[in-house]
Amino acid sequence: MIGNFFGRQAELADLDAQLRLAVSTGAGRLIAVRGRRQAGKSRLVEEFVTRSGLPYGAVAGMKRTPVAVQMQRAVDTLRSSLRPLPKLDAILAVRPESWFDLLSRLSLLLADGPAILVVDEFPWAEETDAGLDGLVQSLWDGELSRRPVLVVLVGSDEAMMDRLFEHDRPLFGRLDHQLVVNPFDPYETFLALGGSRSAVDVFDTYLVTGGFPSSWPRPAVSRPPPTSSRMPCPGPTPCWPTSLP
Ligand SMILES: Nc1ncnc2c1ncn2[C@@H]1O[C@H](COP(=O)(O)OP(=O)(O)OP(=O)(O)O)[C@@H](O)[C@H]1O
Ligand SMILES: [Mg+2]
Repeated sequence: MIGNFFGRQAELADLDAQLRLAVSTGAGRLIAVRGRRQAGKSRLVEEFVTRSGLPYGAVAGMKRTPVAVQMQRAVDTLRSSLRPLPKLDAILAVRPESWFDLLSRLSLLLADGPAILVVDEFPWAEETDAGLDGLVQSLWDGELSRRPVLVVLVGSDEAMMDRLFEHDRPLFGRLDHQLVVNPFDPYETFLALGGSRSAVDVFDTYLVTGGFPSSWPRPAVSRPPPTSSRMPCPGPTPCWPTSLP
């Protein structure tokens, strides 16, 4: 992953508490992580699984993408996990054909011991394979809810995430916890600026970026600073009120 990870202490502690509950009770926890586009959901979950010390698998739905491409991408990311789920190679010997196929196979690997499964952009996976939430419900009720596993469904489509857990949907009543990821607050902005900038610098940056880490200023590489007020923004990325530490 490019760049340092900033802030999100409360969110990391929240996810960690969910994981500890699953491991200590031996009963699975099904949680949802949601938030606006580019708020930092995927990066947060990636940081969490990296720090967890447990085996994990992370896959992601892709919008309007052929299922074969999504499956190949999923296989690649599962294999590149820092701590792959046990026996992963055995279940991936043949590429899965669908999200149903992939999640059914992955659930077999979660039977062995504490582990984390992340399905990023779950609504897009569900859009690819309609009825996928029914399969997750069946896997959850049949097995995973009695295993020390944390299953994290991530989604940026708020409406679809809402719908997933409504009364008439298979996953109704299964959700144990929900975490909303908001853009950085001013304090996280302060931290991301190195923890020593003035309040004016911090609020300038906060106002310019809206707290969205994706809008974060990157240090200019080789361009000289502006010399004329008629050419205020010569760098490859947006101009910022301050330079990074
Ligand atoms: N806590 C953080 N520290 C540093 N960089 C971050 C942090 N959170 C997010 N970013 C960066 O901001 C960008 C957007 O983050 P991310 O992809 O996690 O957002 P997202 O909410 O998953 O977006 P989308 O809705 O498009 O899936 C990425 O470049 C990511 O590396
Ligand atoms: Mg994302």
